[in-house]
Amino acid sequence: MAVNEKEFFSEATLKICGSLEIEKALHQCLLYIRKFIPVGQMGFHVYHPEPGIVETVAHATSSLYDAASIKNFLSKKGQKQVEDQRSLRIRVIDRLGDDPVTGPVAENFGASDLSGLVMDLVLEKTMLGVVSLFNNGKQKFNKEHVHLLSLLNKPCAIALTNSLRFRELEKIKELLIDDNKYFQKELNKFSGEKLIGAQRGLKKVMQMVQRVAPLESPVLLLGQTGTGKEVIANTIHNLSHRKNRPFIPVNCGAIPTSLLDSELFGYEKGAFTGAISKKRGRIERANGGTLFLDEIGELTPEAQVRLLRVLQEKEIDRLGGSETVRVNIRVIAATHQNLEKMMEKAQFREDLFFRLRVFPVTLPPLKNRREDIPDLIEYFIMKKSKEMKRTMMPAPSPDAIRRLMDYHWPGNIRELENAVERSLILDRGPLLFFKGIGEHPAEGPPPIPASCGVDMKKPLELNQVMAGHIQSVMNLCKGRVEGEKGAARILNIHPSTLRKKMKKLNIPFGRNLKN
Ligand SMILES: Nc1ncnc2c1ncn2[C@@H]1O[C@H](COP(=O)(O)OP(=O)(O)OP(=O)(O)O)[C@@H](O)[C@H]1O
Ligand SMILES: [Mg+2]
Repeated sequence: MAVNEKEFFSEATLKICGSLEIEKALHQCLLYIRKFIPVGQMGFHVYHPEPGIVETVAHATSSLYDAASIKNFLSKKGQKQVEDQRSLRIRVIDRLGDDPVTGPVAENFGASDLSGLVMDLVLEKTMLGVVSLFNNGKQKFNKEHVHLLSLLNKPCAIALTNSLRFRELEKIKELLIDDNKYFQKELNKFSGEKLIGAQRGLKKVMQMVQRVAPLESPVLLLGQTGTGKEVIANTIHNLSHRKNRPFIPVNCGAIPTSLLDSELFGYEKGAFTGAISKKRGRIERANGGTLFLDEIGELTPEAQVRLLRVLQEKEIDRLGGSETVRVNIRVIAATHQNLEKMMEKAQFREDLFFRLRVFPVTLPPLKNRREDIPDLIEYFIMKKSKEMKRTMMPAPSPDAIRRLMDYHWPGNIRELENAVERSLILDRGPLLFFKGIGEHPAEGPPPIPASCGVDMKKPLELNQVMAGHIQSVMNLCKGRVEGEKGAARILNIHPSTLRKKMKKLNIPFGRNLKN
């Protein structure tokens, strides 16, 4: 039967390049070429010179195929035979087991007694590997078979390269997904500020948060500056099913208008001068996770329109791009501004407002939840002392505690946090005096803790200073000695040592305190 070579080439090429899963393509190719070449099995093999091994990367028979990765060491003779190979060749091997290169491979497949046709695959002068055809030896491979196989050299080489690159990319993709998950978890760990007041001043807020977090609904966080809107946004994300995916904050007020579009939506290479490579915007980066739109009241009218489209269509267009990218994001927005008033003045779009205000949560100002102040002070002293690497944890003086509790805190928790930091810098001793908060900045020496009851004109005895300090810490800990929030932990001494000291210094604790 005369073979139509053109047809053979195009049909076999279509088969071998028909799938990126090279074993599948090999199987299809075998089913076709066995009409012309007596072949029962085919394989792709790659040579790795360093350890001197042949790796079978795909194997197919007429009934099955698999993406094998079977590695066989070659003898020195076998290695030399491969490495000395300079030009393309097709070898007919009567008995595979007898050849130093095919021998170890054939043994692994139980194919030592089979005959083989082995063709080197070279692309751009690089030796990629070989394609092998086996049969049971009853029908000999002849010159015509060799010629037909040689026609398929380029298609086989291209198919092998593409599929190997594809496999490598798949591996890299898996690694990246894995890395991404890991980094995301690590990031969340660090960004996850501890939430103080969940059981007290923020109890109602937390009940709402617990209810809405597992849903997909957008949340609008309202409240004065520094009340913890970003902390709550983070909490919602961490309590949602998206917790292992990105939490991407966008401070709409901090990004210059000219950059906002590219920051949010990204751009394609060449979209404008300087766009030297494609950049994904923050919305796209939040895909699968949560987009936190902070200071939403600061968005320009144009950005409001574009954002509305994202919320409605769940699609974005990169600048300079022609394709639309679908995104799956949950939106949490926050503002300290009165959006209703802004709407009346046509500064904020009504349609966007109603999209965002599905579930509004208002954070109370600190002056309306004073019960959280002692815990917040303790938390920030602990956090900031650690950051400042202070070995001893100071405590606020009783007078300072009184002032801090009475103060109206216009800057809310942020102001309190800053006040702690400032006092830690100014007061290097065991007591923090919070100068300037709730008092007119006074001159002169710092006030003496009431519990010390000593006249400042006389120098203090060490025991008196110690008593004053222990008393303040006990006040801060509400009389607790042991445990996570106990005075012993803060003072970094054993609870029984602290009790002994308090007895000695006549500081009431435990039952004595209640009496
Ligand atoms: N309940 C809380 N527990 C512990 N820390 C908190 C709490 N609430 C706020 N903070 C801290 O106070 C600071 C201000 O909080 P956050 O940035 O969330 O406020 P905000 O409402 O977003 O303020 P703004 O409107 O100015 O952006 C942050 O450092 C945050 O860690
Ligand atoms: Mg904020």
